[in-house]
Amino acid sequence: MSESTGSNLPVGERGFCLWLTGLPSAGKTTIAKALVPKLKAMGLHVELLDGDEIRRGISSDLGFDRAARETHAGRVSYVAKVLSRNDVVALVALISPYRSSRARARSEIGRFVEVYVDTPLEVCETRDVKGLYQKARAGAITGMTGVDDPYEPPEHPDIVAHTVNRTPDEVAESILTDLARLGRIPRSRG
Ligand SMILES: Nc1ncnc2c1ncn2[C@@H]1O[C@H](COP(=O)(O)OP(=O)(O)O)[C@@H](O)[C@H]1O
Ligand SMILES: [Mg+2]
Repeated sequence: MSESTGSNLPVGERGFCLWLTGLPSAGKTTIAKALVPKLKAMGLHVELLDGDEIRRGISSDLGFDRAARETHAGRVSYVAKVLSRNDVVALVALISPYRSSRARARSEIGRFVEVYVDTPLEVCETRDVKGLYQKARAGAITGMTGVDDPYEPPEHPDIVAHTVNRTPDEVAESILTDLARLGRIPRSRG
């Protein structure tokens, strides 16, 4: 089979980390799931590293204070690093509220594309996929990012993804266009 379907980049340089950061309910998981089949259709190897899923696995020992969130991001970053250096696109969907954690991930991983899933807090609260904003507003839980815990938006994200009045598929397509512009994936698809 021809190598041309995978990528126009040489073996050893095809992997990178696509790191989606944003508030809870911003759309990180939904967009990442929309991206997986599209990247696979280009012949790329893809692994989705979703924060919630990893909290049920290798981060099941961690809570939500600052140190725990930093440790969680550090573990995800490590896995993304070892995958991406082996030609896998490591797709990370993680609140990752701290700029410093994301900067560490960037320097550890190298080929790193930060996507800011930029959904206004009011919209995230309306979506409230897991009902956590409502619980936090009612005082039933504490340490909720965006309510009583900080979220530090990226100052210089590689890609900004707006999700209001757009479908997840449209957002995924625009991210692919940006990735091609950045030279991470081939320009022409299909
Ligand atoms: N353009 C969009 N992109 C992503 N999600 C969207 C979009 N428009 C509406 N949504 C909805 O917003 C919610 C986002 O939830 P989720 O992906 O779980 O967020 P997160 O992983 O950031 O916490 C889903 O219910 C999704 O259907
Ligand atoms: Mg999610």
